[in-house]
Amino acid sequence: MAVIRSVIRGVGAHLPKRVMTNADLAKIVDTSDEWIVERSGIRQRHIAGDDELTSTLGAAAARQALVRAGIDPVDIDLVICATATPDRTFPATAVKIQSELGVTKGAAFDVQAVCSGFVYALTIADNFIKAGQSKRAVVIGAETFSRILDWKDRSTCVLFGDGAGAVVLEAQPQHGAREDRGILSTLIRSDGRFEEQLYVDGGPGSTKTVGHLRMNGREVFRHAVQKISGVIEETLVATGYAADEIDLYVPHQANIRILDGIAKKLGVAPEKIVMTIGRHGNTSAASIPLALNTAFEEHRLREGNLVLMEAMGGGFTWGAVLARW
Ligand code: ACO
Repeated sequence: MAVIRSVIRGVGAHLPKRVMTNADLAKIVDTSDEWIVERSGIRQRHIAGDDELTSTLGAAAARQALVRAGIDPVDIDLVICATATPDRTFPATAVKIQSELGVTKGAAFDVQAVCSGFVYALTIADNFIKAGQSKRAVVIGAETFSRILDWKDRSTCVLFGDGAGAVVLEAQPQHGAREDRGILSTLIRSDGRFEEQLYVDGGPGSTKTVGHLRMNGREVFRHAVQKISGVIEETLVATGYAADEIDLYVPHQANIRILDGIAKKLGVAPEKIVMTIGRHGNTSAASIPLALNTAFEEHRLREGNLVLMEAMGGGFTWGAVLARW
């Protein structure tokens, strides 16, 4: 039976020019390269300059994805930007990116699910495409977390960085079979009872300020391994694949120990997991498309490959997307 699926036509990414190493951080807070690498796997992160906004990074990533897809921006009818660090409270950063790309039709809006944002945004775009409401969508994850970090809090400021990644999705008829290309499964979840474990202590509706990121690292760690493994298992059961049939795991890059914990729990071979955290830290909603872009540039993605993307973040929110490249 013919079905419409969202096929990933192109991927792109963009990182700010400035690199901050662990040694640079050790000059600001009481930390060391050894501590950061051992606890998180992070060696450096990129920090946006004053002229680099979330929209600047997101538009650059989207432009690269469009060029690689060979799709003209005038043919895009949906722009979704996953971000927790918008340029302004409103309008949406996606609208700014839409204008920078020269997209003039359809809709553009932001999605706020913190580190799970890209998985949420892909899910929404896929549903628009399957419902016939979009033919070609740009889905972006873009963040400037450096602007919401408390640079005096060594337990959080060492973990995050800035960046953006994007994919272009296109509606294509497929057979409704196992071999289909495109997005095959999406699962998103949230549980607001965990709001206090990872949050920003400000906002326009409460403190009228931007606020700073606060985190209970141990609780986040514990839930991340459980919740992400759970949603991966649910995805595998729903689609009838075994963990070792997945060609490439492209996880949210939060912490190397979380990724190792999940791999161990599910019995996934380390070489099947894309790990980019060492190069740019946790870039929240940008981290999955940044990792996808790295896999693409390293020729680790071939047509027909099964790719599993997963994330967990503030809320808590979490989810997984399975796609055939
Ligand atoms: N440098 C040196 N020492 C530090 C630093 C630092 N940057 N940060 C904390 N410490 C100290 C603490 O003060 C503490 O010292 P004490 O024993 O004298 O009190 C000691 O190191 C241990 O602190 P813990 O918080 O217990 O360290 P832990 O082993 O739990 O590691 C970490 C902390 C890395 C945050 C860990 O809990 C973790 O990985 N959590 C997951 C959080 C995460 O990845 N969040 C990302 C956002 S959510 C997401 O994307 C899924």
